Amino acid sequence: MAVERTLAILKPDCVRKELVGEVLSRIQDAGFQLRALKMITMSKAEAEGFYSVHEDKPFFDDLTDFMSSGPCIPVVLEKENAIEDFRALIGATDPEEATDGTIRSDFAGSIEQNIVHGSDSPENGKKETAYFFAEHEIVANKSSME
Ligand code: CMP
Repeated sequence: MAVERTLAILKPDCVRKELVGEVLSRIQDAGFQLRALKMITMSKAEAEGFYSVHEDKPFFDDLTDFMSSGPCIPVVLEKENAIEDFRALIGATDPEEATDGTIRSDFAGSIEQNIVHGSDSPENGKKETAYFFAEHEIVANKSSME
């Protein structure tokens, strides 16, 4: 299986509920390597840019208000099969539909405030990573941390 990168965002509800440590633990325990991470507060325009594929959806305005409502933590993660495995770890977008034991099932309050975002394809993983991180901000591989 190919080593892939995915872009996660620990959303403002994750930060507000003080779940950052718990969620990062679950991610690391599942075998994901952290390649980059930072805490930022997105402007409304930055949130709109990130979610531009959803600009015609009825929830776009609320979603981008929420995503710019406080600090969030974009994270670059690496693992074999990272895209699919990360989506399995976090569970369905709607926490009501998320499998028991997934991050969203355990912690999310609603489909909008669903704790964490994960890229849905390797191509989007690359685009979303570039939205938040310059290439020099991404740690190349595990051996470079030792
Ligand atoms: P995320 O993985 O960040 O990608 C897009 C986000 O839009 C999604 O998680 C949800 O938080 C939000 N979203 C998707 N569908 C709906 C919906 N029907 N109502 C409100 N928010 C939604």
